[in-house]
Amino acid sequence: MKAEPLVPVGPVMPGRRRLVVIGSGIAGLYAALLATDAGASVVLLTKGGLDHSNTWYAQGGISAVLDEPAPGDTAAAHITDTLQAGAGHCNADAVRLMCTQARHDIAGLQRFGVHFDLQPAGSPALGLEAAHSAPRILHAGGDATGAKVAGALIQAVLSRKAAGVLTVITNAHATSLLHDDGTITGVEFLKGGNRAELRGDAVLLATGGAGRLFAQTTNPAVATADGLALAVRAGARTADLEFFQFHPTCLVRNAGPASSGLAGEPLLISEAVRGEGAVLVDGNGKRFMRAYHPDAELAPRDVVSRSIALHLAKLGDPNGHVYLDARVIEAARGAGFLARRFPTLTEKTLAAGIDWTRDLVPVAPAAHYWMGGILTDLHARTSLPGLYAAGEVACTGVQGANRLASNSLLEGLVFGRRAVEDFLSGDFGWGSPEGAPPHARSAAGGLPFTHASGAPSGDHLSVTFPAASAGAGAGSGGPFGGVPASSGGSIDVETPFWRDALRRLMTAKAGVLRDGVLLQEAAETLGRWAAVVLPGTAAAGADPREHEDRNLLLAAQLLVAAALERTASLGAHYRSDSPADAAGIADELQEHSRLRPKASLVRD
Ligand code: FAD
Ligand code: SIN
Repeated sequence: MKAEPLVPVGPVMPGRRRLVVIGSGIAGLYAALLATDAGASVVLLTKGGLDHSNTWYAQGGISAVLDEPAPGDTAAAHITDTLQAGAGHCNADAVRLMCTQARHDIAGLQRFGVHFDLQPAGSPALGLEAAHSAPRILHAGGDATGAKVAGALIQAVLSRKAAGVLTVITNAHATSLLHDDGTITGVEFLKGGNRAELRGDAVLLATGGAGRLFAQTTNPAVATADGLALAVRAGARTADLEFFQFHPTCLVRNAGPASSGLAGEPLLISEAVRGEGAVLVDGNGKRFMRAYHPDAELAPRDVVSRSIALHLAKLGDPNGHVYLDARVIEAARGAGFLARRFPTLTEKTLAAGIDWTRDLVPVAPAAHYWMGGILTDLHARTSLPGLYAAGEVACTGVQGANRLASNSLLEGLVFGRRAVEDFLSGDFGWGSPEGAPPHARSAAGGLPFTHASGAPSGDHLSVTFPAASAGAGAGSGGPFGGVPASSGGSIDVETPFWRDALRRLMTAKAGVLRDGVLLQEAAETLGRWAAVVLPGTAAAGADPREHEDRNLLLAAQLLVAAALERTASLGAHYRSDSPADAAGIADELQEHSRLRPKASLVRD
């Protein structure tokens, strides 16, 4: 069958390289803009609308030490805080690079039209979040940072698209990576029920995370581990997959006085609310965090989530919730403060039937951010020539075993930009000795780092339908058909594969509190499902959901295998059967806080 052009694109200037960017979160949007403005031929492909991303929902902000930081703050303090929160598991070079280069990419965002909130005197308003030793969180629209940042970047993308210098393909679901002799040369995707191919000189995966692996998550529907699964199937190395961060304060919807409307939509209650002084109390109205860590509600995120889980278990209510008391902020800062500082949260909690100036907010930990991902070096290069990865899908090692709040948007910016710089530099650098961080682990028979040879570069951007339409098999039942969406009850040996069952399994057996028995049970169930679903190969059908299901199952298997392998607790990976736990987390964490220097003691 003759190939039909899917997207009309003009000829490419001789000598220009083509970068295919997959994903329209902060990493993909920013990288696409930088590469376009540098003269590259760029195609930005994303599976929904441009605004469908985790980035859109970010609240707290972006951490960065600017030229005029808060008194006593320094990039060195940011580095120390990041390493500290990461529980000693970070790649220190990557952390140093990210924290020292942050100010340049904040300026980069501003050039693309992003405006951060200012103090009355005109300097940036800097928020404080847990485990930061100084206020250094830039925010926009109060608690609407993600929507404001992504909104401005999307406008910049659309203006370049209108000018004919950037190609954008929305509702295009990447299903596999194309390769030629071990070099990644493009992507196959689904659009409108048809399969298409897109070739380029390099591919940047910026497909975000995988919160949808768990039943309780802060992540929107797009976070289904697609990029990770595509890369693993192509042979890329991964690292740190056992480390999944659970945010301590996700709204528990069915617990409010008048639960309503937005049922099912996750609502994160930003850590910035605790940064402004909100405290956690249990069902008896008792503040409990001080018993677990000297920094109480502002302890590192993994500590707060784990403490909530342990406290609830101690109270005999392991599946219960605690409460966030934001009323104390309003009492201290005056009526109207919460609505001014957190307008989105004020509106959304009210819509859920909670007036947080008067009511406690029921909250519980929920899956939030994957520290692990596709292993990359300091230039965002994966182990596969021609393939870059940036943002949450990547594992640069900056987030260690537990990400410091508001460091994710920053990572996407810094390493998205570094991918573009490497791409533009021309030699693609694969095979350089700088390669993989030392904590590298091969998850799926990763290919060795070899120099990219003969990356394709024709004169026209080829976006084509191959001969075979992908329609066959869509909705045809198979392992995905005929299973009720919420089968309820526990997961036993009879439970067939279904996304909801997978998510419940992961929350129950590979969540905040883990042990070897639970993980082994999870591995067995996942293995049983995998024998039928075959997640090691991409789905053949044209239903994107079928592809997502396989991707989630593959990602779950990799996560659980990594969690089984790491028998000691570290950061967000907490095993109650860990020998190191005998001393209790309070001791371990008091030690961390002793080690943390004050911001004023360190200098750039
Ligand atoms: P994303 O923003 O998730 O974008 C991924 C993109 O890839 C999406 O456009 C998606 O549609 C696309 N995609 C995925 N699969 C495919 C496919 N198969 N084919 C084509 N396209 C695909 N971090 C902070 O630093 N500060 C915060 O304040 C903050 N608040 C947060 C609040 C919430 C509620 C959540 C969920 C996260 C928050 N985070 C925050 C984390 C942060 O938002 C994310 O880690 C970050 O936005 C990830 O950016 P990204 O560009 O890597 O991916
Ligand atoms: C939040 O606002 O609490 C989320 C910040 C983050 O995930 O970094």
